[in-house]
Amino acid sequence: MKPLWFKAATATNPGLLVRLGAIGAVMLSVTGAFAYTGGWLSPARLTQDRMMAAFRDANGTHVGFRRNHAKGVCVTGWFESSGQAAAISKAAVFRPGRVPVIGRFALAGGMPFQPDAPNTVRSMALSFLSPGGEEWRTGMNNIPVFPVNSARGFYEQLLAYSPEPATGKPDPAKIKAFLAGHPEAARALALIKKREITSGFANSTFNGLNAFRFVDAAGAPTAVRWSAVPVQPVAADATEPPETGDENYLFDELIAQITQRPRQWRLIVTIGRAGDPTDDATQPWPEGRRQIDAGTVTIDRASSEDGGRCTAINYDPLVLPAGIEPSDDPLLSARSAAYARSFTLRAEEEHEKPPSAVTPKEVRAGGKS
Ligand code: HEM
Repeated sequence: MKPLWFKAATATNPGLLVRLGAIGAVMLSVTGAFAYTGGWLSPARLTQDRMMAAFRDANGTHVGFRRNHAKGVCVTGWFESSGQAAAISKAAVFRPGRVPVIGRFALAGGMPFQPDAPNTVRSMALSFLSPGGEEWRTGMNNIPVFPVNSARGFYEQLLAYSPEPATGKPDPAKIKAFLAGHPEAARALALIKKREITSGFANSTFNGLNAFRFVDAAGAPTAVRWSAVPVQPVAADATEPPETGDENYLFDELIAQITQRPRQWRLIVTIGRAGDPTDDATQPWPEGRRQIDAGTVTIDRASSEDGGRCTAINYDPLVLPAGIEPSDDPLLSARSAAYARSFTLRAEEEHEKPPSAVTPKEVRAGGKS
């Protein structure tokens, strides 16, 4: 039975019925659009809601923190270009000269209070600020290849390695099934396991892993990958965390080192040859590829991410200057979407965020705080 107000209104105004119908149709289509983008109508579609839920299941809830690489510290310094990469990229950052950088060192994983450990993946993220407002952002890890080559693979890996509620540990059967379904991950993880682990952040090599395209002034593209290679002497890791029980020993050591003197990395660009995979971050390029020393990154200050300049930065790999373009690697757009959602969530939760684990007051080379 129709309510009285409806009968009265439509009896005196038949056009109203049509308008109400139209409003109803619009509301249904809006609800449908939300349901579609939220993934409720397509249980198999990988949405950002599902990706973020997988991070939560794997790591727990940590309001205000990055959903991955959650434990970190902000740094600043500069990049001194050698001018050598300018032959293959018109990016202003590669012209001889110096630009400021805002960076972040972090440990992979969504647990912001995890104790530092030798084989946890370390990362270095950099934002290069060229004159004229152009920016180049990159995130690099101390592993030779990435374990997966698709967003779906990343998601399934997160699910497979999540702790089971009953045991608090991942289920070996799920890991086995994941590796059987992703032979590329099994191969990549074998390479990752064999990598050299150094004593700290300052003497780690960080690799960009995804391929990009440098584009020169005439528009000619070159397939590249890049790495930050330490100027500091490489020392092998002690394999065990120190007996002092300092849960932040890797970060504390880095901060102490920066306080003594600036730490430096060379930005090495590796040039791909025809046939080198540009769409698969699980595959290394063959040894012996031509390399260019594009310049030196110098880090001379560190500060807590609470109030630090890196906190407002989402190190989206698709923030690129003219002269650097994405390759056909599907991980790039997947990263960009996930980092944006992670950023939105942590920005919304900012007022509830507890202090980060690593909270130096700003320190700078020369020992002053
Ligand atoms: C589909 C694949 C991937 C997903 C879903 C993913 C997801 C994420 C998310 C959500 C964050 C936190 C972003 C923020 O809140 O600012 C993050 C950080 C990071 N990711 Fe990924 N990631 C992926 C692949 C990669 C790859 C291939 C690399 C290769 C180097 C990488 C390196 C990093 C680094 C270095 C950070 C830390 C940046 C910082 O310090 O803020 N990720 N990732």
